[in-house]
Amino acid sequence: MKRIVSGITPSGDGSVHIGNYLGAVRQFKELSRSHDCFLFVADYHALTTVQDKGQLQKNIETLILHELALLGDLTNITFYRQSDINGLHTELQSILNNVTPLGLLKRAHAYKDKLQKDTAEDDVNVGLFSYPMLMAADILLYKPDLVPVGKDQKQHVEITRDVAGRFNKTYKKNIFNLPEPYIPEEVATILGIDGKRKMSKTLGNIISIFDDEKIIEKQVMGTYTDPTRAHATDPGHVAGNMVFTYLDFFGEKEKVAQLKELYTKGQVSDIEVKKYLYESLMKTFAPARARYADLAAHPEKVKVILDRGRQHALAVASKTMEEVREAIGLRNAYSIGPSTPASPAGGSLGTSISIDDFSRVEMTVGNVVEATNKEGSDKLIRLVVDFAEEKPRIIFTAVRPFGYTPEYFLGKQFFFVTNLAPRKMMDEESRGMIMAVDSDTEKKPLFVSAEGLTVGAKIR
Ligand code: ADP
Ligand code: TRP
Repeated sequence: MKRIVSGITPSGDGSVHIGNYLGAVRQFKELSRSHDCFLFVADYHALTTVQDKGQLQKNIETLILHELALLGDLTNITFYRQSDINGLHTELQSILNNVTPLGLLKRAHAYKDKLQKDTAEDDVNVGLFSYPMLMAADILLYKPDLVPVGKDQKQHVEITRDVAGRFNKTYKKNIFNLPEPYIPEEVATILGIDGKRKMSKTLGNIISIFDDEKIIEKQVMGTYTDPTRAHATDPGHVAGNMVFTYLDFFGEKEKVAQLKELYTKGQVSDIEVKKYLYESLMKTFAPARARYADLAAHPEKVKVILDRGRQHALAVASKTMEEVREAIGLRNAYSIGPSTPASPAGGSLGTSISIDDFSRVEMTVGNVVEATNKEGSDKLIRLVVDFAEEKPRIIFTAVRPFGYTPEYFLGKQFFFVTNLAPRKMMDEESRGMIMAVDSDTEKKPLFVSAEGLTVGAKIR
């Protein structure tokens, strides 16, 4: 499978509207059927414009929920936050800065456009100036084949290719491949409800996806139709009529064709057509809206997704950074361990971790409600464990070689680590780990009994 990388910036208010959906999210979903996709929230990128702590926090949260709700199934998608990759994005940016000529960045649109908008050079921050370098790092860390972007970002991908080539040439090693920008042809810019300008949050001409139904209804009712039509009985125009433009995407083909015909004959009112658009939007986005409500109510589910994405992305990015550090001469006789730790604690064996690090480990009292030997395995015992959560969890333990049987666990209480990223074992995901103590006398792990403690209680 070819690999793609793309980022989304939590600027504006972080929300996703139908223009973003049609222009970006939908294509990405389509691409994910046949590509290995890395999709990240470009939270460092947002710092060029969002410099209010509360606003940034909110934007990131909103964007994560909206994207996850719209994507739904994450098959082939690694979803993560740029700032969760142990600083590797910014480390590579720093390194790439040194093989990049100043002129290349001076010619970049984001910076040039800002200068043209009568902004003095002193009012442009260096973050905006070096934005294409961060973007190059975002991309090159994952060695993708393609980078799907809007037209406005094409130049940034070209800069990325240029910089990748310069790096390879400088260090005489082909570390980076040169990814192609991928700009889906059929993606036209969606106009806003004013029918004049691109749908955009800053212009306030959007139809939102996750707002209150009343708000969306109001946006639909305010959509530009045909200004030449005064009464429902006047023949109306369909071309340029935004309600029909949107209906072409969201309505049922036959019903839309029928409405168009009635509209041109003056046999259906604007209100009726708008009502149908509203219903169609609600129908199209019902599953996403339900997922949104569920994720918003369960932050732990969102964290599990982000943690899983982070682990995968970090593994790939760490490998690239190892190669980069080696190629440029940062690795030498006095390098200590892997230069890019794979865990936030920095802990390979022997390194001590802080109390804060340790407090991130969540240990919970669980009651084993089912225990069976896992079919097809000679090691695994499959536990179903109640933590007084919505549903019990499946947790595997590989202790049959030590003589343990399911009966040993059934109906008893133990301590479990409950905030591990899920791990697929055979055909099922194990969502946690039972705690055991190594014993030197017994040559087998011993389990710590939590008998008599409250199920679901956390250990501190
Ligand atoms: P906004 O302009 O609303 O702030 P962004 O600039 O954050 O949106 O764009 C996020 C993604 O959505 C980009 O890939 C962009 O190409 C796409 N996009 C934004 N607005 C539209 C639109 N009106 N029509 C099609 N695609 C859009
Ligand atoms: N700059 C992109 C935008 O504004 C977002 C982005 C950041 C990105 N890093 C990226 C896109 C890497 C593709 C690849 O839309």
